[in-house]
Amino acid sequence: MNPRIDIEQLSRELEQLSLFSDAPSPAVTRVLWTEQDMKARAWLKSLALEAGFLYREDALGNTFIRLVGSQPDLPAVGTGSHNDAIPFSGMYDGTVGVLGGLEALRAIKRSGLSHARSLEVLMFTAEEPTRFGLGCLGSRVMSGAIELEKVRALKDANGVDLETARKAVGYTAPLESVRLPKDYYAAFVELHIEQAPLLEQQGLQIGVVNAIAAPASFFVHLTGEGGHAGARLMLGRRDALLAAAEIALSVEAAALQSGAMDTVGTTGILEIHPAAINSIPSQAKLGIDIRDTDGLRRDQAVQHVLETIKTVCQRRQIEYRIEMMNADPPAQSDPKILEAIRQAVQDLNFSSLEMVSRAYHDSLFMARISPMAMIFIPCRGGVSHRPDEYATPEDMARGVEVLARTMLNLANL
Ligand code: GLV
Ligand code: MN
Ligand code: MN
Repeated sequence: MNPRIDIEQLSRELEQLSLFSDAPSPAVTRVLWTEQDMKARAWLKSLALEAGFLYREDALGNTFIRLVGSQPDLPAVGTGSHNDAIPFSGMYDGTVGVLGGLEALRAIKRSGLSHARSLEVLMFTAEEPTRFGLGCLGSRVMSGAIELEKVRALKDANGVDLETARKAVGYTAPLESVRLPKDYYAAFVELHIEQAPLLEQQGLQIGVVNAIAAPASFFVHLTGEGGHAGARLMLGRRDALLAAAEIALSVEAAALQSGAMDTVGTTGILEIHPAAINSIPSQAKLGIDIRDTDGLRRDQAVQHVLETIKTVCQRRQIEYRIEMMNADPPAQSDPKILEAIRQAVQDLNFSSLEMVSRAYHDSLFMARISPMAMIFIPCRGGVSHRPDEYATPEDMARGVEVLARTMLNLANL
């Protein structure tokens, strides 16, 4: 008997989850450890317990939901993704991998099919960098990719440090306990929407992800000199916003000049102070994100921007400080898991495309402690990080079916 996916239940749960939000529907904003995030976590826990699964949270709120196998001492097969949502985004990014993973486990349980290894859904804490400026926080710590001192030093926009923030919502265990041993998972498979238009454009159903591109991000803090917008003459101004504008243009130029369409650069944050129409901006802060499938080429683009910052700030007499958040290497998927996904796609008679993920995912870090691969499903127009993000129930059902089969296959290896 095959695991049968209850797509009505999954669709209903995705709708319910989208309402734990600080933005008006259809937009979703769910930021780490806010009231809405904590409500969504409690709701997920109730779903897991209702389904009869084991449930645990670690010291960062990474959440583990387990269906125990017939040989529970063997390393488990994991799946999962994130439930946090960047400001004014949609309801499918990450959530399809968490609730879809949960539905895969429920379907396997209902089918009565045996599996030697335990199967586990993981909801990662803060895949999105919104609160502390660093993406994949939970999986970074889990995989030992970041020193704990750096984690403890993280501060949000209100100056609240991570230790205070996590303890305030009840996560009090030592951070050391978050680390997972290398033999915890035999395999990790994440289901996610594609966030790009290739599958839709080619009329294909499943993306088999063979690599995840290398992300880097940093903040640039600029300090110039403020003053009266009318009374202060143009000559000799030290306008922090104008330096920021030149720097933002250099991000675009660095990505375009790399010679590869895989290089992308975005200035997603620009804050100025004092932000008054009749005042020269004395301070500016930029948040810059540069990525590539090739880590070396990504580093060259970053270097280009860093050099521009130096030149622009010298010319405009602006003081600057760079706060490098991350510059991670790309990750390759595991051949055995890829084979298991391909087999599931073939058994189910679905069409597929082998592809690279240009977005990052917690799987980028899970690759450091476990063999990993990802399954993509199409999303309308390739749109993501926007309220109009959409995946059809049929595509989600296909993704969860492939996931369930892949997990079963890997659990009996
Ligand atoms: C994840 O949301 C990313 O920015 O790739
Ligand atoms: Mn995202
Ligand atoms: Mn995501």
